[in-house]
Amino acid sequence: MSPVLVISRNPQVVGLVQQAWGPDGYAIAPEQFPDSVQSLLAHLQGAPLPAVAVLDPAEQVMSALSLAVDLDRNFSIASVLVTDRVAEVSLDAMRAGVRDIVTPTAPAEEMKKALERAATHSGPRVTQQQASSVPGAATQRGKVVTVASPKGGVGKTTVSTNLAVGLAQRLPQSTVLVDLDIHFGDVASALNVTSEFTLPDMAHGAAAQDALALKSYLYLHQTGLYVVPGSESPAAADAVTSKDVVNLLDTLATQFKYVVVDTAPGLSEHTLAVLDQTDILVLVTSLDVPGVRGLRKELDTLRDIGLMLESRSVVLNFMHPSRGISVGDVEASIGRKVDFQIPQSNSVPISVNQGIPLLQNGSRDPVAKQLRALVDSVDNADKADAKGRRFLDFGLRKEVAQ
Ligand SMILES: Nc1ncnc2c1ncn2[C@@H]1O[C@H](COP(=O)(O)OP(=O)(O)O)[C@@H](O)[C@H]1O
Ligand SMILES: [Mg+2]
Repeated sequence: MSPVLVISRNPQVVGLVQQAWGPDGYAIAPEQFPDSVQSLLAHLQGAPLPAVAVLDPAEQVMSALSLAVDLDRNFSIASVLVTDRVAEVSLDAMRAGVRDIVTPTAPAEEMKKALERAATHSGPRVTQQQASSVPGAATQRGKVVTVASPKGGVGKTTVSTNLAVGLAQRLPQSTVLVDLDIHFGDVASALNVTSEFTLPDMAHGAAAQDALALKSYLYLHQTGLYVVPGSESPAAADAVTSKDVVNLLDTLATQFKYVVVDTAPGLSEHTLAVLDQTDILVLVTSLDVPGVRGLRKELDTLRDIGLMLESRSVVLNFMHPSRGISVGDVEASIGRKVDFQIPQSNSVPISVNQGIPLLQNGSRDPVAKQLRALVDSVDNADKADAKGRRFLDFGLRKEVAQ
């Protein structure tokens, strides 16, 4: 039978699980109920992770629900909650992905059935080493990676969707993509997502500041990327304030290693609020004079308002020799180097129309190659930062303004 872990300080509950499951059950009795996989690992002392976890938190129900989310989302480990406050906690438990609720005094037969049902939902087993390396379970705050440009139609959504998919493919469930092109966002269409919940549902009310509730609203894309799709209606989007956006990104950064943000053109109030929270900025421009001039003005404005960037990443899109300006011209105009050059290619509109980002289907196209290089540099910027070094040729730093 699948191994079942019971976390409980109540011998009656431990006995119930052993009676229901036999020798494949094992128990720990921590004083503080673990609220994440990381804190659970500290108690397991090298024992393998189970297929099913029985959570008996007594008064620490919120910790148990937080652990249930972590186990389910990151490791497909099913949870059974033990509580005598069934009516009170069942909605939150359901949102946290708990499979079943059993009372501490239930008959062994009931526990057995709950465990059998839960075992059919658990995914492939993970080792402790894999568990430790998953950032969804990490306590460190994630990085906000913002894709912006002064003009529309230059490739922001193309870049942000591919960047997010690329990061998620590297580390499943490490990344969330937020469509903050508030009124006319098209991330959902670029990823072929039809979601019951969109930005206004997630940015308003309790969900925006409650990681547990928020995670239950997110759309899980087949690549392992979580998505906050843009609003269906511009009117509903109007109700989303920049403060809502700040709260939402703050909460997401506690749950994900990367929060990738697609933005509307220009420096709207929402975009400025996002830039203030941004760790890594990716600026996109098309290879034409209005686009490049717009980018120069945006860089000047960011400097003028004190959002000084030590260095940033500039992506030049729609590269084509027939366009009449060169990379050198662009670099001279904006006063810095271009980091990535994405060629103009029919593969882009085709992938957008299919709703399958180029990096999702493993394309070897020259466009995909540049997008992969961008994924590498974001990932490496993060690694450099994690080692305590400053961003090398990448990222947003505000202190330079002093
Ligand atoms: N490198 C490219 N080659 C050809 N078409 C592209 C390229 N990049 C983007 N496009 C197309 O340009 C349009 C605008 O791109 P999009 O990413 O939606 O821009 P934005 O989000 O900045 O408005 C889309 O139809 C997209 O398919
Ligand atoms: Mg867009």
